[in-house]
Amino acid sequence: MSDVQAVSDALAMVAIPTAATADVTTVAVLGVGRVGSAVARAAMKAGYTVTVSASGDPDDIRLLTEIVIPGATPMQAADAARAADLVVLAVPLHKFRTLPADALAGKTVIDSMNYWAPVDGSIDEFDEDPRSTSEIVQEYLAASQVVKSLNHIGYHELEADDRPAGAADRRALGLAGDSDSAKALVAEFIERLGYDSIDAGDLSAGRHFHPGTAVFSGRHTAAEFAAILGGLAGASVPDELGGTVSTSVVGDLVVVV
Ligand SMILES: NC(=O)c1ccc[n+]([C@@H]2O[C@H](COP(=O)([O-])OP(=O)(O)OC[C@H]3O[C@@H](n4cnc5c(N)ncnc54)[C@H](OP(=O)(O)O)[C@@H]3O)[C@@H](O)[C@H]2O)c1
Repeated sequence: MSDVQAVSDALAMVAIPTAATADVTTVAVLGVGRVGSAVARAAMKAGYTVTVSASGDPDDIRLLTEIVIPGATPMQAADAARAADLVVLAVPLHKFRTLPADALAGKTVIDSMNYWAPVDGSIDEFDEDPRSTSEIVQEYLAASQVVKSLNHIGYHELEADDRPAGAADRRALGLAGDSDSAKALVAEFIERLGYDSIDAGDLSAGRHFHPGTAVFSGRHTAAEFAAILGGLAGASVPDELGGTVSTSVVGDLVVVV
């Protein structure tokens, strides 16, 4: 990558302003395991109407939902996807082709799924494909706008690490996607869950949140997160910008200079 490209990429790492995207009211969480349950509860706490789905009949998860995710509505996955303004994928990655692609058409879809061979076992498709896992998911969900996010926070952390906007120790969550409008929806969702959001770029940049990366392996404020991404870009900053990569946070905006 050229220095110019690297600096350009670094300068592109800004959190998306979240105004004017408040039209998301219903969130469908596909997958009602550890992550899906935590995301669903956090989304309800943030004021969203939440539906939850497993792979089968909603009656199979009705009791679980009442006990573990009270207030959420169990639905068949395809019905939930069609009815939602925003969808969170929280199923094991190797099952992504069982997701209802037709029903997800036109939807903004958060891909929280990880490929982690020590846990999932080795899967040739992901070992041999150089793309980020979310690009592979996007290929399957060709008519959806996939945004990689929520994959690098533990299910047990999501309801503990949230903070009000402006808190000094507020944690940042990354997002990556090819649609700016979809990223704006996801940025607002992340904000309402209690986290700053960092736009890392297009969907291929989701690789920077994969298991084993610095982002995946720690808790980071917005400035720390942006600095990690700036370092990954290998930015060589011109002298007139100070010669080093640094970050500043202005409201919802993280600026990498
Ligand atoms: N563990 C973490 O802290 C963490 C953090 C971030 C991201 N992740 C990622 O999040 C994903 C989910 O992890 P998890 O630990 O929550 O998994 P999990 O506890 O095994 O739960 C998986 C859920 O997905 C459901 N499911 C499977 N296929 C489905 C389909 N086609 N439609 C709707 N639901 C379906 C399962 O329902 P059935 O029982 O009916 O099959 C189950 O409710 C994984 O990709 C993981 O890598 C994990």
